[in-house]
Amino acid sequence: MINKDLLYKHLSQTRLHLWIELLQQQLNNIFETIPHGRHDEWQAILQQLPAITPSSTNYDTDCVRAGVITDTSQQQHQVLHTFLKQLQPWRKGPYELFGIHIDTEWRSDWKWQRIRDHISPLENRLVLDIGCGNGYHMWRMLGAGARLVIGADPSRLFLAQFAAIKHYMGNTLPIHLLPLRDENLPDFQQQGFDTVFSMGVLYHRKSPFQHLQELKRFLQPGGELVLETLVVEGDENTVLVPEDRYAKMRNVWFIPSTALLKRWLRRLGFADIKVINVNQTRLEEQRATDWMSYESLADFLNPQNPDLTIEGYPAPLRATLVCTRT
Ligand SMILES: C[S@@+](CC[C@H](N)C(=O)[O-])C[C@H]1O[C@@H](n2cnc3c(N)ncnc32)[C@H](O)[C@@H]1O
Repeated sequence: MINKDLLYKHLSQTRLHLWIELLQQQLNNIFETIPHGRHDEWQAILQQLPAITPSSTNYDTDCVRAGVITDTSQQQHQVLHTFLKQLQPWRKGPYELFGIHIDTEWRSDWKWQRIRDHISPLENRLVLDIGCGNGYHMWRMLGAGARLVIGADPSRLFLAQFAAIKHYMGNTLPIHLLPLRDENLPDFQQQGFDTVFSMGVLYHRKSPFQHLQELKRFLQPGGELVLETLVVEGDENTVLVPEDRYAKMRNVWFIPSTALLKRWLRRLGFADIKVINVNQTRLEEQRATDWMSYESLADFLNPQNPDLTIEGYPAPLRATLVCTRT
């Protein structure tokens, strides 16, 4: 699922080359040391993906796509559709492979539209996406001209989905998803990335300060952090710590106000802190589809008052901030 030789080659051509030795140790036996019950099933799917050459690929458009239906035989099309369905649930996207439209739970393109014009241009930058899901935004980062895009996400299903998409987008492209957590990445000692994204991760961490400090250590001085997370309305002293679940999620810990989030970033020494977007998630942006048939946002909100979660907390409001590592 990971083309390690190419990963190390791409890293060796950058200042990130110092990372290679540690990564080799971490990735060597990762599928054996941290096994997953469905690994073999997903690996078999990836090995049997039909060999189809796409007539075109596009990853600087809202729908990340490879090929058109006429690139395939009817049988190839059917086999591919079946395999992609077996990789459900598809949460982040949309994607289209040879006319098969993967209508994901999230319109992740809307998030990208909200932020892309407010971040430093990605041309020629080394980019890290922490908590990258199946890599949808990584493709958009590559499409925006990044030199190398590395994603980190512990979900094995998302790794398999990424590998299936990459198989058709181009296996030699400088884009790699690592099945690692942010805690597994080293201190880059001022030899880090130009831009680090953390979108939808901070509230999953028990210690938000630890997460923000890690993100800082992944950046080189002058590099940019793009931070997207759940927030609540309120002043510099406002933070929501849910009693138990938030919007049915068990693993939500800290939801600060944007004012408090800015203070956290200031305390950690980030500069030029700007809030570039605040947005309440709409039912059209996160919903069940043919490719993600479990519960979605409509089931997480109070049916009588969609401004509240089912537990009675403020409905999901998300802010994106950018700031600079000094
Ligand atoms: C809400 S999703 C966000 C996905 C994507 N960044 C986006 O904005 O659409 C959160 C992702 O973070 C991943 N995640 C959770 N804890 C993580 C950690 N400690 N390190 C890296 N990724 C993590 C999850 O597997 C999940 O894919």
